[in-house]
Amino acid sequence: MARRPLLLLVVVALLRSTSAGGAATITVDVKDYGAKGNGVDDDTKPLMTAWKAACGSAGAVTMLLSPGTYYIGPVQFHGPCNASTLTFQLQASDRSSCACAVQGTLKADTDLSRFRNDWIEFGWVTGLTVAGGVIDGQGAAAWPFNECPFRKDCKVLPTSVRFVNSRNTAVRDVTSVNPKFFHIALLQAKNIRMSGLRISASPDSPNTDGIHIERSAGVSITDARIGTGDDCISIGQGNDGVDVARVRCGPGHGMSVGSLGRYAGEGDVTRVHVRDVVFTGTDNGVRIKTWENSPTKSSAAHMLFENLLMEDVRNPIIIDQKYCPYYNCEHKYVSGVTLEDIQFKNIKGTTTTPVAVMLRCGVPCQGLVLQDVDLKYMGQGGTSAKCENATAKYVGYQFPKPCT
Ligand SMILES: *[C@@H]1O[C@H](CO)[C@@H](O)[C@H](O)[C@H]1NC(C)=O
Ligand SMILES: *[C@@H]1O[C@H](CO)[C@@H](O)[C@H](O)[C@H]1NC(C)=O
Repeated sequence: MARRPLLLLVVVALLRSTSAGGAATITVDVKDYGAKGNGVDDDTKPLMTAWKAACGSAGAVTMLLSPGTYYIGPVQFHGPCNASTLTFQLQASDRSSCACAVQGTLKADTDLSRFRNDWIEFGWVTGLTVAGGVIDGQGAAAWPFNECPFRKDCKVLPTSVRFVNSRNTAVRDVTSVNPKFFHIALLQAKNIRMSGLRISASPDSPNTDGIHIERSAGVSITDARIGTGDDCISIGQGNDGVDVARVRCGPGHGMSVGSLGRYAGEGDVTRVHVRDVVFTGTDNGVRIKTWENSPTKSSAAHMLFENLLMEDVRNPIIIDQKYCPYYNCEHKYVSGVTLEDIQFKNIKGTTTTPVAVMLRCGVPCQGLVLQDVDLKYMGQGGTSAKCENATAKYVGYQFPKPCT
């Protein structure tokens, strides 16, 4: 108890105030909190202590991780904070003077017994910016322990970065490689803009979704490159207002809405806009998948997918309301998720299978529109479309020919 005031004094002395363009910015340098950044020593505690100081300071605060490799176990960067804005800075602050693109790297411990949930968790923070850096999940050692691709009740491995209950967040120019599970996950994020992300993992790494989004609102993802072992972006249940633009996706499973309708109490997914995306060598282009035996009714509505280029994609356009990956399905149920106002516009390129368009609805889909679709099969013969309970409106050029 007697040591508390002394500790506080030290913390205050370590906060540096700089003046940039009039507004004072407080910089909290993790090296002042004992972080080594040498890739060997464990920097978990120094980083969490530095976060407490940064989060507790009022005004515009930068938590600086200067170039180096910070070797860390699971960390929780939680608010609420006093800082009006908080920048988690892994990028060299003056990029113009340095062509070498030096930045900080966060490198994950490979000892799975240390992890209870995810690796890096930002939570309950308003006005956070994560700028630059390399997030290396060191996942290859963990992938053999992932049973989720074949067991429904599997133990889920740690996601590299999770944003939970965050508001007004920006994530810029961050590189994520080899996560143990997902690269980035959003849970109940409100207003989050992610730009310039570089996401990569081996094409055969299990469940390494690029960005998974759940129960969030106001999400924008622009100018990203995502090549991974699972979905580039997966839009799960309970989301409203997801905008994706100028993304290169592949290798991987493509872009998906879902899977939806697996658990009780799932929310609707509304207002999704995906445009100007190039898919290269992916399993799917855009896919909406819902479980056929859903415990709760929900809806997926008001979605526009436009200006998409498919390069050697197995299933460029696919709606599958009989998703059922774990057991032999009898297909005797109708999915409780209803699909409404789903538009595909200007979708071009090549497929590696003859079925280029698959519209497999449960309860008949409402307001499906396909406009200007031109998908060519790489092998012999043409492409075709398959439909179940899907009456779409067709506008403009159509190849394959619409199903009747
Ligand atoms: C915010 O500031 C108040 C007053 O200085 C302080 O008591 C509190 O601990 C600070 N909050 C955090 C998260 O550090
Ligand atoms: C099509 O919709 C009807 C009405 O909801 C349903 O009874 C039927 O099982 C559905 N068919 C398929 C193939 O899912």
